[in-house]
Parts: sequence; structure tokens; C-alpha cells
Amino acid sequence: MQNINNQILDRMTGVYRVMILLLVLTFVLVGVLTLSYFGVFAALQTAAQKSKAKRNSYVEVKPPLWKPISMEAVWNEPNKDLIKYGKELISNTSVYLGPSGKVAHTSNGMNCQNCHLDAGSRAWGNNYGAVASTYPKFRERSGSVETIEKRVNDCFERSLNGKALDSSSREMKAIVAYIKYLGSYVPKDTIPKGTGIWKLKFMNRAADPAGGQVAYEQKCVSCHGRNGEGVLNPDKTAYTYPPLWGEHSYNQGAGLFRLSRFAGYIKANMPFGATYDKPQLSDEEAWDIAAYVNSRPRPTKDLSKDWPNIAGKPFDHPFGPYVDEFSEEQHKFGPFKPIDDAIKKRKKAQQKANKLAKN
Ligand code: HEC
Ligand code: HEC
Repeated sequence: MQNINNQILDRMTGVYRVMILLLVLTFVLVGVLTLSYFGVFAALQTAAQKSKAKRNSYVEVKPPLWKPISMEAVWNEPNKDLIKYGKELISNTSVYLGPSGKVAHTSNGMNCQNCHLDAGSRAWGNNYGAVASTYPKFRERSGSVETIEKRVNDCFERSLNGKALDSSSREMKAIVAYIKYLGSYVPKDTIPKGTGIWKLKFMNRAADPAGGQVAYEQKCVSCHGRNGEGVLNPDKTAYTYPPLWGEHSYNQGAGLFRLSRFAGYIKANMPFGATYDKPQLSDEEAWDIAAYVNSRPRPTKDLSKDWPNIAGKPFDHPFGPYVDEFSEEQHKFGPFKPIDDAIKKRKKAQQKANKLAKN
């Protein structure tokens, strides 16, 4: 009896052993499969990113969103005073360089920060996160390789409807030092997620200035005024609410004069307090308001030297001549998708031709 019991027990332990062994084997197998799956996946992803990088020569990085280096770490920098002055100039440009500026009178009273929020550090607030990593770079508008200094002066001459700063001035050195500091942890040729301006989906109709006016009067007038004139601060050294059109606003050569730049900027940031993840405008409202504001009068600039290669104009550049058959009106207000599709098609054909020429 005892023997039989032992035999049964032995057999049962045997069965258990085999079962445990099988269980362990399954775990190992699942582990190995999972690891190799992710390994292969990651390898594929880097390969895809690399081939993309080759195509645009910049790497677009997936989330998390870019965060600037904290200003608290600035004491570590040998040029900390210059960096701090740069930040001050970007936040309070008008106090130094506006119509009654302390240093010079070379700009329209706006601050860089009016359009580059939190001194150029806010996610989707037209920040400077990708400037240090991508400049000097070729830009179609000038048809040349631009330094950070040149790009900053573009905004002085267009967005601030003013004069270029001397690139050897302390002010320019400070602005550049600050912008470089903000992006100092971004690897070369990388464009972190969240830098620049939010990209809106195209509408399948043209943007409508009349509809935009209605929305503007509901959502923007309280700060920017019925005539887009903005509100000066009590001592008139800067704007509490910056102007959106009229003689003190950006000129027609400015980035915001392109509908996609204006609409993307306000979608993620206006009315003041809105953010990219808590927007207060629908995409349609953003496009229509952009159409309304950019139909109002504003300063002009001689743009005859821009776009030496007209094929390089973006879909929403509102001044001809163009290489395509779409009207100036459509380039200004849309619908943009057909224009954008045509640009993509031309690019593809060009790449093919380049490849053939190489072979
Ligand atoms: C009226 C709005 C406005 C003002 C004011 C303004 N900018 Fe800009 N800035 C823009 C827009 C729009 C762009 C283009 C962004 C884009 O196309 O993604 C831009 C682009 C830039 C860029 C290039 C960013 C990049 O990633 O390529 C730099 C640098 C810059 N601005 C610096 C300045 C400085 C410095 C000032 C103040 C002297 C200033 N800006 C004032 C609207 C403005
Ligand atoms: C509660 C007040 C307020 C409201 C409402 C508001 N804004 Fe603004 N807006 C601001 C302030 C303040 C700034 C400057 C931000 C800074 O300097 O930090 C600004 C900046 C801007 C700028 C960039 C600077 C310029 O003057 O070109 C644009 C464009 C803009 N707002 C458009 C709009 C639009 C369009 C609406 C309506 C959808 C709107 N804003 C509603 C307060 C407001």
C-alpha cells in the first residue's frame, strides 16, 4: 500500500516537474519574442527616421514635446550676462529698440515675445527650439544660406517693420546667445516636436474673411481692438495688447502674413490663455480669422528680392508670380490642398529627375 502511494506520488511530482518546466519555457519564449519584436521594431523605426532624414536633411522627432533648458542653469555659462540680456531684449524689445527705445529707435513697438511666446520657449508658441540645431540653413525666401543673425534681422525688418541690427552690436550678440542657449541640448539637424508653429489641417474651402470678422469681433476685439490697433501700456513704452493690423503692425513680408502661419499660431495660443492642448478656436475659425486680419491694411515692404527661385514659394505665399496655374487669390486664401498637392508632385518629379541624372 505504502509502495503504491509512493509510486503515485513520484509520478505526480514527475508530472508537476514537466508542467513547471513547460511553464518556464513558455515564459522564456514569450520574453524572447517580445524583446526581439521591440528590437526589430526599434531598428525599423531608426531606419525609417534615417531615410526620412536623408530626404529632408532634418530629423523630425516624435513626442515628448521640446522643453527649453531652464534659465536657472544659466549661471553655469561663461556668457551668462549676454544670455540674460538677450532674453530681456526678446521679452521687452520695445523698451530697448521701440519708437522711444533706450538703445535705439529701430522697430515698431512690438516685442519679439508677442509672437514668440514666453521669450520663445513655449511649446507650439512659435518657439526657438530648433534654431540652434538647424541654422545656418538654406532658405528659399532669400535663396541663400542664412545665419541666426540674418534670420533675427528678417523679423526686425518684417515682423517688427523696422531696421536690421548691426550683427556686431551687443544687442544682436545677446539675442543670438540667448537663442543658442535655449536650444543647447537639441542635437544638430534635429527638429524637436512642439517647436515652431502648430500645423493646421487644410479646409476644403477657401478661408472666409467675412466669417472671420464675426469670430474676430467675438473673440479678439476685447484685447486687440475693433481696428486691430492693440492697447499701449500706460507709459506708452510697449503694448499690453499688441496690434494686429495698421501702421504699427507687422508688414506684408512677415511670416504671420502667410495664412497658415497666422492660423496655426492663433489656434494654439489665442485668445490669450489658449494652449495647443486646450485650444479655444475651431480650425475653421482660425483660418477665417487669419483671412480677416490679413485682409486689413498694414505696412508694405519691398519684396522684389525675395524668392529668387519662384518654385520655392510655399503654398500660401500671397504674391505671384508662381510656377503653377493657381491664382494669387487662391494662394492667399485657399483652398490650399490642390496647391500643396501640386508642390508635392513637383518635388517628387524633381527627386526622380535628380536620381536619373545621378545614375
Ligand atoms: C509679428 C510676429 C513676430 C514678431 C514680433 C517676431 N517674429 Fe520671429 N518669427 C515670426 C514668424 C511667423 C516666424 C516663422 C515661423 C515659421 O515659419 O515656422 C518667425 C521666425 C523667427 C525665427 C526663425 C525660427 C526658426 O525655427 O526657423 C527667429 C530666429 C526669429 N523669428 C526671431 C525673432 C526675433 C529675435 C524677434 C524680435 C526682434 C522676432 N522674431 C519677432 C513672427 C514674429
Ligand atoms: C485676453 C486678451 C487677448 C485676447 C482675447 C486675444 N489676444 Fe492675441 N494677444 C494677447 C497678448 C497679451 C499678446 C502678446 C503675448 C505676449 O507678449 O506674451 C497677443 C498676441 C497676439 C498675436 C501676435 C502678436 C501680434 O500682435 O501680431 C496675434 C497674431 C494675436 N494675438 C491674435 C489674436 C486673435 C486672432 C485673437 C482672437 C481669436 C486674440 N489674439 C485674442 C492678448 C489677447
